[in-house]
Order: sequence, then structure tokens, then C-alpha cells
Amino acid sequence: MKRLVVGITGASGAVYGVRLVEELLAGGVEVHLIVSEPARLVISDELGWDFAAGLVETCRKRIGGGDKDTLFVYDNRDIGAPLASGSFLVQGMVVIPCSMSTLSGIAQGSSNNLMERAADVMIKEKKLLVLVPRETPLSVIHLQNMLFLARLGAAIVPAMPGFYHHPQSVEEIVDFMVGKVMDLLGLEHQLFTRYNPSEPKMI
Ligand SMILES: Cc1cc2nc3c(=O)[nH]c(=O)nc-3n(C[C@H](O)[C@H](O)[C@H](O)COP(=O)(O)O)c2cc1C
Repeated sequence: MKRLVVGITGASGAVYGVRLVEELLAGGVEVHLIVSEPARLVISDELGWDFAAGLVETCRKRIGGGDKDTLFVYDNRDIGAPLASGSFLVQGMVVIPCSMSTLSGIAQGSSNNLMERAADVMIKEKKLLVLVPRETPLSVIHLQNMLFLARLGAAIVPAMPGFYHHPQSVEEIVDFMVGKVMDLLGLEHQLFTRYNPSEPKMI
């Protein structure tokens, strides 16, 4: 079984993170999910979740397929969690959606919270780190942080869905982005139809 860390920050597009976790769990991956405080605010706003029951309980209840043996949920302030250590064996980490704040913290090696520390561990241990930034327009600061991290080996996968698969719903647009991340993780999926023109179209 694969074991992956997923971080959900307070950037818009919480649905991308939730959908990725659902797909990973459905594929038998053990998921260690970190949710920042601003993410809870955005998730409440965009997905209508109520966290009154607590972070762990709410995520387990809301995320399809999540149980205590496969879905582990952490508060971003829990810097003492196992994933803060390089000795915790994981195949990689995805931050989806990734705010410009967390992007900056990772680029600076700040390790000010569990998400930044777990990403820092991925970089130092030469593990797969996939970042799905969501912001527009992008400033020079944002672009420089992305370039810096890309040069360190992180995969920068901006939340920029394609439309060549002719999506008919928001869900299909979301699944396209999640599918691109699954591709980078080397995991099979049926989230979108791949581009495969039956005949060359030259107009
Ligand atoms: C409704 C809402 C939408 C936001 N959307 C974005 C966004 O798309 N990208 C971004 O970088 N920050 C966005 N922010 C700002 C972040 O939530 C803020 O910078 C926060 O400090 C990020 O912290 P985190 O990275 O620890 O989650 C948004 C905030 C709110 C309240």
C-alpha cells in the first residue's frame, strides 16, 4: 500500500483537495491529511462543511471512504505529528490547493507548521512533492517561489484545468486537475478522457 501526505491550505479550490483524497482512498492509498486553519474557513465557505464536530471527525465523515485505518487527519499546528520526521516513511506529498502563503513558507524552508515541515522533509529526503498553487494573477514573488521550488524538484501543477476533454460539469473540471496529480503520483485513474484525436485536425 502506498502512503501519501496531502495538505489542504486556505487557497480557493478546497474541492480539489477533497476529491484527491477520495480518489487516493478509493485506490487503496493510506492518506495523511493536514488541514490548515484558513483551509477550514475556505472549506466551510466553498463546500458548506461545519467543523463543529472537530477537524478529524468532520473530515472522516465528509470524505468518502475515509476510516481510521486509512485516513489520518492532522491539525496544521500539530508539529509533533509523525510526519514531521524524515523517519516516517511516505512516498510523497501533495499540497492541493496550495496558497501563496504556504508556497512561500515551503520555498523559505520555514517549517513553521506541520504542512511546511512535512514539505521540507520531502525536499530534504528527495521525495515526490507536488504543489497545486491557486492564485491569479500571479506576482513576481509567487512566480519566483514556484521557479525556486521547481528547480529543487517539486512538481508545480497550477490549478489550470484544460478543456480538451469537453467537461460537462464542474465535477469534470475538478477531476481533470485531480487526474493530472494522479498521473504525477504514478497512480491509475479514470478521471478524464485522454487527448487522442481520431484524425489530425488542421484548420
Ligand atoms: C475565501 C478565501 C479565498 C482565498 N483564496 C486564496 C487563493 O486562491 N490563493 C491564495 O494564495 N490565498 C487565498 N486566500 C488567502 C489564504 O487563505 C491566506 O493567505 C492564508 O493565510 C493561507 O494560509 P495557509 O496557507 O496556512 O492555509 C483566500 C482566503 C479566503 C478567506
